[in-house]
Amino acid sequence: MPINKAWLFLLLAASGFARAEVPMADMQDEIPAQPKAANLDYFKPRELSEIPKGAFGDKIRKGYQLFVNSQQLSGQYVGNQLNCTNCHLDAGSKAYAAPMWAAYLAYPEFRKKNNRISNFAERVQGCFNFSMNGKAPAIDSPELVAISAYSYWLLMGGLLDAFGMQDQPVPEMSDKALQEGGNVASFKLPGPLTDKVKLDARGHMPGRAFAALDKPAQAPSPARGAKVYEQHCALCHGSEGQGRVMADVPVIPALWGAQSYNWGAGMHRVNTAATFIFENMPLGKAVQLTPQQAWDVAAYMNSRERPQDPRFTKDVATTAKTFHADDNGYYGKELDGSVLGSQAFPATRVK
Ligand code: HEC
Ligand code: HEC
Repeated sequence: MPINKAWLFLLLAASGFARAEVPMADMQDEIPAQPKAANLDYFKPRELSEIPKGAFGDKIRKGYQLFVNSQQLSGQYVGNQLNCTNCHLDAGSKAYAAPMWAAYLAYPEFRKKNNRISNFAERVQGCFNFSMNGKAPAIDSPELVAISAYSYWLLMGGLLDAFGMQDQPVPEMSDKALQEGGNVASFKLPGPLTDKVKLDARGHMPGRAFAALDKPAQAPSPARGAKVYEQHCALCHGSEGQGRVMADVPVIPALWGAQSYNWGAGMHRVNTAATFIFENMPLGKAVQLTPQQAWDVAAYMNSRERPQDPRFTKDVATTAKTFHADDNGYYGKELDGSVLGSQAFPATRVK
């Protein structure tokens, strides 16, 4: 049995779920980096051209459009110049760039910390509020249904193919079921898959989230990272991390400053950014940095100012204490004589 199919065969575990609304504070909970699988060939989403005709297919296509060109929601739900696909690479299908297929199967996800569950659409809302520095669309909005439909389709098409059911169409689901995600007993898998995709393995598809990266030999250093940045990143992302906009279309995303992700986003953590960068950057010629370089450049990038944490309360110190006490980020910390977060750009730059 291919080693990466092993996760599909773990024993079924009964899970008792309790539902409650997910607060802002939980929306960007850290997803632990995953041990890197040697072979990811076991799973491949279907080609876009295989999205079915008709109303259900239209939802999937709309989700894809919003994912790759999130800027069409600029000023409404999106407050910076990013698109989902800037971080979730290859339109959410690249392994270890937090792919949507693996994410879809992982939700609803239970959080031990406060006994809460968040479903798939709620997790997407988190990325709107933080990564996109915007204001999330409502859970049952056409936008969130569409993004959920697209993510579901990436997953289900790939699963059907992986188990020899290439000729089977992806089953349609209601809007309500689409928002939930696949980690729930009521999630319908086509006949033969029911026994194979076990509930307690669904959060662990190889390729989910980011690949674990060795701890650096030396503590991450923004100063060393600045040199890595200049040499390996600035050509594309700009000397001020501002990215590049051509004819009003952002073509290279901003890494810091007013047009980037805000201080509450998952990417602001040095560990999360280091794992992403090591595996995926420089775009087109990854992997070429050493782990130490990835940690250093992540520290540099994430010690520049960016939009304020939208959960901001009272002052930076209070906000840092409430929301950043145990994260691996620079918010509220002093560097080169200034406290990060104190010069932040406005959060939620939407009307
Ligand atoms: C600036 C980079 C960035 C952008 C842009 C971004 N995300 Fe994310 N997203 C992340 C990171 C980082 C994580 C992992 C969260 C963590 O560990 O904190 C994540 C996690 C997720 C997850 C959960 C993944 C899992 O395996 O549990 C979903 C779903 C998601 N994002 C959807 C979206 C959607 C939809 C958009 C566009 C509206 C978007 N993201 C934009 C960085 C980004
Ligand atoms: C060849 C040009 C190029 C180089 C060099 C490059 N990047 Fe990128 N980077 C991109 C593009 C383009 C994207 C968006 C990818 C997409 O949308 O498919 C991106 C996305 C990102 C993102 C996620 C989006 C965001 O704005 O946060 C981060 C973080 C990032 N790059 C960091 C780096 C770092 C650090 C380096 C240097 C080690 C680097 N990149 C080198 C082109 C480049």
